[in-house]
Amino acid sequence: MEPRIIRQAFSVSYEYPVAFTRGLFAPENTLLAEIARAAGVRRHRAAVFIDDTVARARPALAGDAAAYLENRPEIFDLVALPRLVPGGERCKNNLQVVGDIIAVLSLNKMDRHAFVIAIGGGAVLDAVGFAAALFHRGLRLIRVPTTVLGQNDAGVGVKNAINFLNTKNLLGTFAPPFAVLNDLDFLRTLPDAAWTGGIAEAFKVAIIKDAKFFARLCELAPRLKNRDEAAMEELVARCAELHLDHIRSNGDPFEFGRARPLDFGHWSAHKLEQMSAYAVGHGQAVAIGIALDSFYALRKGWLSEAEFEAVAGGLRRAGFSLWHDLLERRDGDGSLEILRGLRDFQEHLGGELCVTMPRGLGAKFEVHEMDYTIIESAVAQMKQRMHCLSR
Ligand SMILES: NC(=O)c1ccc[n+]([C@@H]2O[C@H](COP(=O)([O-])OP(=O)(O)OC[C@H]3O[C@@H](n4cnc5c(N)ncnc54)[C@H](O)[C@@H]3O)[C@@H](O)[C@H]2O)c1
Ligand SMILES: [Zn+2]
Repeated sequence: MEPRIIRQAFSVSYEYPVAFTRGLFAPENTLLAEIARAAGVRRHRAAVFIDDTVARARPALAGDAAAYLENRPEIFDLVALPRLVPGGERCKNNLQVVGDIIAVLSLNKMDRHAFVIAIGGGAVLDAVGFAAALFHRGLRLIRVPTTVLGQNDAGVGVKNAINFLNTKNLLGTFAPPFAVLNDLDFLRTLPDAAWTGGIAEAFKVAIIKDAKFFARLCELAPRLKNRDEAAMEELVARCAELHLDHIRSNGDPFEFGRARPLDFGHWSAHKLEQMSAYAVGHGQAVAIGIALDSFYALRKGWLSEAEFEAVAGGLRRAGFSLWHDLLERRDGDGSLEILRGLRDFQEHLGGELCVTMPRGLGAKFEVHEMDYTIIESAVAQMKQRMHCLSR
């Protein structure tokens, strides 16, 4: 008998604002109130979750956020005092944290129209976002990213995840936020590693998407290194815009396909972080990963010598080291351990390798195989060059 097939098809469109401000919870700042009003003229239940490191760095934050909502009772019904969530990967490594957040939502009878306001680094946004996406199949999430990476990358996108079974981001959902509110004042209390981390991601996206932005980053590099806030404001805004543009226009916002352009430079970066037992931070690792793949591109003729020098010079002026001794560590059979990162990345993609490479500055394409001999020689030459440069 012929099977009977009813074909189902529909699309859902998403829209959310990514706003930039300062003093988000200052009594006179109307941004959050206006954003919430867009959900309808009625009172909305609201719960606030704050990264505990941010709360320590900004002791007035929890009180200010609570007062802001309580002073607008016609819009917000603050169901509980702001709750602290362990900052950094601690919250993503422990399923109990998600359980605790869900318990707060349940205890306070949060409904599908309620707001969950998450304030913190990319990790806290991921954990709270995951819990909010699961509860009643999804509440309205307002993200308030407090790191550079959060404001220009992790916080502006459409997904969340937590780590499980020792695997990073194993559990997660695609769940576009209700709004993203970037308050640049938060960046002031960042440790240096978190400040520079988001800069590497800006170089990444500029190199493959926007030559003009890349040139501007190279110009801004010394100021970025010296924690110039105006320079950082420019970086965050353009980088967030490029991310949003990518999600909107690449035709695959929920990542059904294999291509991961925003993973440029990441196959070796992830491996290097892991090999160093996470002593090398993500941003620093990404800077090295970008340099390695750019060197590869140079050897293949996809970048000119001048373009490669611009990439390496820009990253170095922004404060990154482009060499780490672990790059030349070999495993039992004598091959470079870093190459395993390529195999891990391939497995992560589901079998077929797909690495984004620059083709000139501001343009990209995908390669499906990489020549290990060229990577070996790229590593050797990087060591030689980086040592020459550092003398
Ligand atoms: N969902 C996505 O699309 C996406 C994309 C990229 C990265 N991520 C995730 O984001 C996480 C990394 O995010 P991150 O780089 O923001 O780091 P993070 O969230 O780990 O924060 C780094 C540290 O800084 C602290 N911190 C945060 N804001 C601070 C502030 N203003 N002042 C002082 N300390 C502050 C945090 O508590 C933490 O200890 C990773 O878990 C990664 O997987 C998610
Ligand atoms: Zn990254």
